[in-house]
Amino acid sequence: MLQRALQLPWLRNRLLDLRWSRVYRLHERWMDFYLGVETKKCEKPENFGIDPSECFAYVPADWWGLSLQLRKIPIRAGEVFCELGCGKGRVLLWASRKAFGRIVGIELIPELANQARKNLRSTEAEIITGDASKVAIPDDVTFFYAFQPFPLHIFLTVVERMRAQALKSNTPVRFLYNSPVYHEYLEGTAGLTDLSHLYLTERAQNEFRFYEISPHVE
Ligand SMILES: C[S@@+](CC[C@H](N)C(=O)[O-])C[C@H]1O[C@@H](n2cnc3c(N)ncnc32)[C@H](O)[C@@H]1O
Repeated sequence: MLQRALQLPWLRNRLLDLRWSRVYRLHERWMDFYLGVETKKCEKPENFGIDPSECFAYVPADWWGLSLQLRKIPIRAGEVFCELGCGKGRVLLWASRKAFGRIVGIELIPELANQARKNLRSTEAEIITGDASKVAIPDDVTFFYAFQPFPLHIFLTVVERMRAQALKSNTPVRFLYNSPVYHEYLEGTAGLTDLSHLYLTERAQNEFRFYEISPHVE
């Protein structure tokens, strides 16, 4: 019933307008309580001895954005999801309820990676502690997600790694980008197509972008 009601665009937009209201803040708290996890407290990298100019703070994606804006994002049943900079694992919790075959999170700060493992204990998620621009990415990953984890030079290295992943598997990989501040820098990436207009409303495109990176360049 609620699922059906949320398909009404005006109701979804009304709910999105409520963000930052008291109701929204209560909902954020409720979701952590309901799932028995701790994902809402923001964390500064310097508190863990990490240089903040190389690693952006832990700020979780908001639950409403994930559930209201991403309803049409296509997921191939069984494909492998990888979150670059998974923090405490909120988005992995969202992904664990979708049709993905496996979910993987990569997180630089060991304390946050441990919290993610704790939050995802009831799932089969794999959490890798390390730098997303360097650690080995499992060969079968075809769906990436990131939300403002690191500055531009690291971001571009990571996008190259996504392309290498497409070439290695000879399969297009997809990239869901939350808060896409570096969108314009992606335009020249070989094999990349912006599919946002197909799967996201115009409003949602301010908050997310969805790309495909093909191994074949025309
Ligand atoms: C803005 S938070 C996003 C958290 C989560 N992805 C979400 O959407 O809720 C960015 C996260 O990326 C992590 N991070 C920053 N640089 C990283 C790197 N080089 N490799 C892996 N994780 C990184 C930070 O520690 C932080 O947890």
